[in-house]
Amino acid sequence: MNKEAFEGLKRAGQIIRDGGLVAFPTETVYGLGGDALNPMSSKKIYAAKGRPSDNPLIVHVANMDDLAGIVKEVPEAARKLADAFWPGPLTMIMNKNDKVPYETTGGLDTVAIRMPNNKIALELIRQSGGYIAAPSANTSGRPSPTVARYCVEDLSGKIEMIIDGGQVGIGLESTIVDLTSPVPMILRPGYITAQMLKDVLGEISIDKTIIDSKSTERPKAPGMKYKHYAPKGDLMIVQGAQEQVVSYINEQSALAASEGKRVGIIATDTTRELYKADVVKSVGNRQDERTIAHELFKVLREFDDENIDVMFSESFDDSGIGQAIMNRLLKAAGHNIKTV
Ligand code: TXA
Ligand code: MG
Repeated sequence: MNKEAFEGLKRAGQIIRDGGLVAFPTETVYGLGGDALNPMSSKKIYAAKGRPSDNPLIVHVANMDDLAGIVKEVPEAARKLADAFWPGPLTMIMNKNDKVPYETTGGLDTVAIRMPNNKIALELIRQSGGYIAAPSANTSGRPSPTVARYCVEDLSGKIEMIIDGGQVGIGLESTIVDLTSPVPMILRPGYITAQMLKDVLGEISIDKTIIDSKSTERPKAPGMKYKHYAPKGDLMIVQGAQEQVVSYINEQSALAASEGKRVGIIATDTTRELYKADVVKSVGNRQDERTIAHELFKVLREFDDENIDVMFSESFDDSGIGQAIMNRLLKAAGHNIKTV
């Protein structure tokens, strides 16, 4: 990191120490950071995002010793998972100690903690005093920002600083695993898959509300119950054999266009040429689902930029990272999925 960048992060750290807010890149999505141990900072975060205050924030740390400073005890499972995946896209939930204000945890006695794998984020955390509370840096309900310009769009004028670190590497938020339940439980799927966690812990469960779209139970991560990632237009996911999917989407697109609507299609590298609509975008390559995770939120935001009224998306395999992709896509579509 050059001297100028370092000086900039020092200034940003001072803003956070003084109770201000700074948007910054992580490897997953951009975060909206404030001092996690300052209740006023957390209140400001909720206000800037327009987020309900019962939806807890993730506390970001830059080294293992700081973890022990905010929890009752560091569970054995946390050490193992940190060894395997930190710094990285994994958030762990543990019992908080008194240093963490309830404003940060949405009133809960547990706290979500993550060490991000991004040089800017890690230096900013150090410069800020060690603990940054940061939700994704979007207005509540909109797709998480994976480039700085969407932080500007949502938060400009509401926070003290936005740090541009280019497009993020992963593109979907961290996997959240709850270590306070008898068997560690995945509350939000992400880049670190169930199998990867199982390989380290031996046993893992998954909050069933995140895989069963018809479940009426309350998700254990409060944020998962809210409408999320929603583009401005209506989105429908279409699943089935490729040929049927393509012809159904083309048919429905033509119909919507004849009603004067602007239509967007979320295709993949191999199918984009097969569609006809106002805007057709490939979200990536099915052979490597990381490319899809990387582009999904950006593509949803770009359809907003293009004032698209109606969108159709192909569907993806629900295994590995596909589980996280489908979780976000289904939420973006309000669970509007059609089988052809
Ligand atoms: O990748 C990420 O995790 C990004 C970057 C910025 O680190 N952050 C992020 O934060 O996605 P946010 O606030 O958008 O999502 C945090 C999720 C919410 O669904 C929230 O309800 C859940 O974590 N959560 C936080 N603390 C929790 C707790 N103590 N118990 C259960 N769920 C919790
Ligand atoms: Mg979020």
